[in-house]
Amino acid sequence: MKYPWNDYSGRLSPLKLTVFLALFCPAAWVGLSFALGWLEPRPFTAAIREIGLWTIRLIFMALAITPLRHAVQWSRLILVRRMIGVAAFAYATLHLGLYTADQMFDLAKVASEIISRIYLTIGFTAVIGLAALAATSTDAMIRRLGARSWQRLHRLVYLVALLAIVHYCMQSKLDLWEPTIMAGIYAWLMGYRLLALRFAVRGRLPPVWTVVLAIAAATATALGEAAYFMLAYHADPERVIAANWSLMLGVRPAPIVLGCGLAVAVAAMLRGYFALPAKRRTRFA
Ligand code: HEM
Repeated sequence: MKYPWNDYSGRLSPLKLTVFLALFCPAAWVGLSFALGWLEPRPFTAAIREIGLWTIRLIFMALAITPLRHAVQWSRLILVRRMIGVAAFAYATLHLGLYTADQMFDLAKVASEIISRIYLTIGFTAVIGLAALAATSTDAMIRRLGARSWQRLHRLVYLVALLAIVHYCMQSKLDLWEPTIMAGIYAWLMGYRLLALRFAVRGRLPPVWTVVLAIAAATATALGEAAYFMLAYHADPERVIAANWSLMLGVRPAPIVLGCGLAVAVAAMLRGYFALPAKRRTRFA
């Protein structure tokens, strides 16, 4: 019998079991909060938001597996990628289901809203993309499609993540702090893949490139934020960029993206150092 918490050899994998159980926690917490009235005064809106946030977080976690397993040389991480991807689809379906419930299950209204509101059209397209990925994620489908075609098809997740960010930005309207961080992390995740095509050594990007990438993704985040405030509010881009060096407006998205990128770079360096035999480690130090 094949259980989701077993590895390829059919043995119980503590990593898979932990991730499997953890994936239920956000939905269980939202369900409990809903039932106990903690999401009042607008429980459906709050639940739609929470589940939407977890959908996008899970899409990003699935996307982060490949760079992380290479950077920190933890190959077993691949065991949980499919599970996280399928969970992202389940959360997206729940998000859409809650929206439908909030519209009193009036499917004609839901359909017309999806067609007429561009941010919902974009979100719905992302759900269709996730459905295609989930439907082709079984062992049988991978065998049927062949590894190469399967991998090519699953690059669709890059587009799904982009659509998810656009949907998130468009519905957030004023507070773009977290969507901007997401966009910066997306730049990092895509940048890693592009750099790996050219500079990877045995599939792994040398740590110096992860530092370069962290700086590039943070710069793109700062420039993107400045461009948005200039176009939307005619704000002086120099002042928006300067805000990244001050804490007056809290920590801005660019330093957070930089911190995340540098954390991966440091983890990659430490992993590389401890992977060396003890003798070479002292020489390295
Ligand atoms: C993969 C697809 C999707 C993702 C990743 C996603 C993600 C999100 C996120 C992150 C939010 C914002 C949460 C917040 O403000 O804190 C959100 C809000 C929202 N989403 Fe989605 N969404 C998706 C698809 C859809 C679909 C198909 C619909 C409905 C047709 C939908 C309807 C909404 C609505 C109505 C809100 C705003 C709730 C409110 O503040 O009033 N989403 N979504």
